[in-house]
Amino acid sequence: MADSELVPPFTLGVLGSGKGSNLVAIAEACTRGEVAAEVAIVLSDEKGAGILSQAERLGVAHRFISPGDYRTKLDENAEQAYITALREAEVDLVVLAGFMRILKGEFLRAFEGRVVNIHPSLLPSFPGLEAWKQALDHGVKCTGVTVHYVNQGVDSGPIIAQEPVSVWEDDTPESLYERIQEVEQVLYPRVIGEILKKLMRDG
Ligand code: GRF
Repeated sequence: MADSELVPPFTLGVLGSGKGSNLVAIAEACTRGEVAAEVAIVLSDEKGAGILSQAERLGVAHRFISPGDYRTKLDENAEQAYITALREAEVDLVVLAGFMRILKGEFLRAFEGRVVNIHPSLLPSFPGLEAWKQALDHGVKCTGVTVHYVNQGVDSGPIIAQEPVSVWEDDTPESLYERIQEVEQVLYPRVIGEILKKLMRDG
């Protein structure tokens, strides 16, 4: 029996700025009944982001919400607009999938303990941008993927799950990142499913 038949479905709000491969993996896992949830809304700070076209293709509600004047965070009005959109969609879990803005106080208080992120390295190694390039430049033989709760820092919240990815002698940044993304697309839906089961148990 699929998990979706065992527990009532939860709702997810997905935030992203990029192409949306994680959104697709999560939404498809929901459709297959492997994750007892549905993606209720997709929000992006980038008007032309691939994640918005993927949401459109998947038939999921989606919106561009302008981030305001800052480069790395949301301004106050934008933060409120994101909170309102997620509340209106009654999301149980906020899933960051390549969202390129730091979320702070007000937002994290609004969804306390319910904001997760995926990062393309084995944190605490290589936080920040282009973590796969950082790993290659450093010469590590193994990097990977981390799913973690979001706190006020950059890629520094409590770790939920990790999966290693070997670095090959002839890897380019592109080839390494491609393998990392393949792992992300399996790990993220699985971990989200586990978090929802825990929410179900703990109420
Ligand atoms: C992923 O590599 C994720 O680890 C990072 O941003 C990227 C988003 O990729 N935080 P996509 O838009 O889901 O394809």
